Amino acid sequence: MVAPSILSADLLSLGDEIRLLNHSNADWIHFDVMDGVFVPNLTFGIPICEAIKQIAQKPIDAHLMVAQPEQLIPSFAKAGASCISIHYEVVTHLHRTITQIKELGCKAGVAINPHTPVSVLEDIIGELDYVCLMSVNPGYAGQKFISHTFEKVAKLRKLIEKQNANALIQVDGGINIENGKELVKQGADILVAANFIYKSSNKLEAIDSLKNLFVIYK
Ligand code: DX5
Ligand code: ZN
Repeated sequence: MVAPSILSADLLSLGDEIRLLNHSNADWIHFDVMDGVFVPNLTFGIPICEAIKQIAQKPIDAHLMVAQPEQLIPSFAKAGASCISIHYEVVTHLHRTITQIKELGCKAGVAINPHTPVSVLEDIIGELDYVCLMSVNPGYAGQKFISHTFEKVAKLRKLIEKQNANALIQVDGGINIENGKELVKQGADILVAANFIYKSSNKLEAIDSLKNLFVIYK
């Protein structure tokens, strides 16, 4: 799957950008929520999610890079997010928060920062719909991919197989065709990309080129 991150879209024409994704081969709309506390940047929140939901024909994947996600989860579910990921680094009662997301009818994901080992997910992986492996430090689009992520994808794939779990592996940050190819080979299921898509001259083709990696290398 491919999940364009609209963080790098033309925010003055957000409606047109969502309509373009409706007509694209993208699978999810990745919606990066930043709070200026957990990450040193602010982006968009619930009212924008609600507005997008009015026209979006693809599931909204809310990536909550916020300090106290449990407080915002009900509002994002109500605003139309179909998938919600929270950061391992900020949640004390992870099992409770995952259950909260699922009880609201959303897919539940856990995101881990580049320094957080995959092994911390050993006792929760069976409960997750997806894991978001951060391949940059969260906070900004357009950063350089951290290549240690390849090993993390392979390790996570092994963990999922060992436990016969159903979690999908999402990778987020600095993704392009070259590293995307290797990520898919190692077992990634969902590639998130902002700059690769939105800084290209043809967004639909950029989405298709990432989608194609799954056809060729999966
Ligand atoms: C980073 C965000 C990413 C980001 C990806 O904090 O979580 O989703 O938008 O942007 P690129 O693909 O440009 O690295
Ligand atoms: Zn993200």
